[in-house]
Amino acid sequence: MDDRGDRDGLRDAELVTGGDLAAGGTGPGGHRVLLSIWERLVELDVARRYHLSPAAGHVVHHAMTINRPADEGTTNVAHNQDLASAYELIYTVAAGKDYQREAYDITDLIRQRNPTADSLLDVACGTGLHLSHFRHSFAHVEGLELAEPMRKAAIDRLDGITVHAGDMRDFRLTRRFSAVTCLFSSIGYARSVEELNQTVDCLAAHLEPGGVLLLEPWFTPNQWISGPVDTGTAADGRRHLTRMCVSHQNGTTSTLTMHYLLGETGTGIRHWSEEHTLTLFTDEQYRQAIRQAGLHDVQWLPGWGDLRPRISAVKRRRARFTAPHSGPAPRP
Ligand SMILES: C[S@@+](CC[C@H](N)C(=O)[O-])C[C@H]1O[C@@H](n2cnc3c(N)ncnc32)[C@H](O)[C@@H]1O
Repeated sequence: MDDRGDRDGLRDAELVTGGDLAAGGTGPGGHRVLLSIWERLVELDVARRYHLSPAAGHVVHHAMTINRPADEGTTNVAHNQDLASAYELIYTVAAGKDYQREAYDITDLIRQRNPTADSLLDVACGTGLHLSHFRHSFAHVEGLELAEPMRKAAIDRLDGITVHAGDMRDFRLTRRFSAVTCLFSSIGYARSVEELNQTVDCLAAHLEPGGVLLLEPWFTPNQWISGPVDTGTAADGRRHLTRMCVSHQNGTTSTLTMHYLLGETGTGIRHWSEEHTLTLFTDEQYRQAIRQAGLHDVQWLPGWGDLRPRISAVKRRRARFTAPHSGPAPRP
């Protein structure tokens, strides 16, 4: 999740879409409403980026076909399947995230530290995109995910692979693994240092001795900056997706508000928004959590493409059993 932006810009856009668009933009003053939407989109630089023009009626088309299911009231909530498919379109197509290459890189990092690694658990695995490649490199893989729509997408993708319903902050599986991963900043969903420590404890507890933890952290407070509204657009032949994301910071908490427009032939265009809250932990807080969990050989490594690194650490092998000093028993 690499979305950061200018909060004020989107707040204005919300005002426009949140009111008149819900009524379809057709009542008295509808034309003015559509023009004002257009003006805001131009301001937000959408028009230039997506080659829209008011004369071609693009904005009218978008405004008139936004769907809001009756049971949603005034709140926009995504259909379950939309969450997972929008997630994949945004990251694999719009952001160009290469899950296959990442999975190979991560496998190499794991094998450099544990050459016989043959099992892997991916915690907060999302829709299972990394696991779909890890399954070819490890004899046994499993996933764990909290959000049901994401987990369902992972199960659909990963025929025959177990994807547990669970919370990374507190889970207990019946086996341990040669490697445990927690990728793409999922760890940032821990809401406090205490939850970070609990999560890393849980991840470490599922490692075999000699096993490798591979963590991709969220931004640190020093790295985090507010920038322009982040926009992404993607299509896969059947669906078209636009997402705008705006973020802000409150102390060590970063909040990302994401607005989605997903258009699908035959279904129309659906709009929903999501709010994600992630904690800006420091490097030292990650290091402490990893050390407290009994891991060693902690290393900061390059990440998948921006400022965020990867962190690796290894679980100690059991201390070698040394026979007690042989010889005559000491006399009392
Ligand atoms: C940025 S996505 C990363 C997903 C996947 N690892 C990837 O690389 O595409 C973050 C994921 O963390 C999951 N998540 C958030 N909090 C969680 C928790 N407490 N326990 C398990 N999963 C969680 C979300 O549902 C989401 O699927």
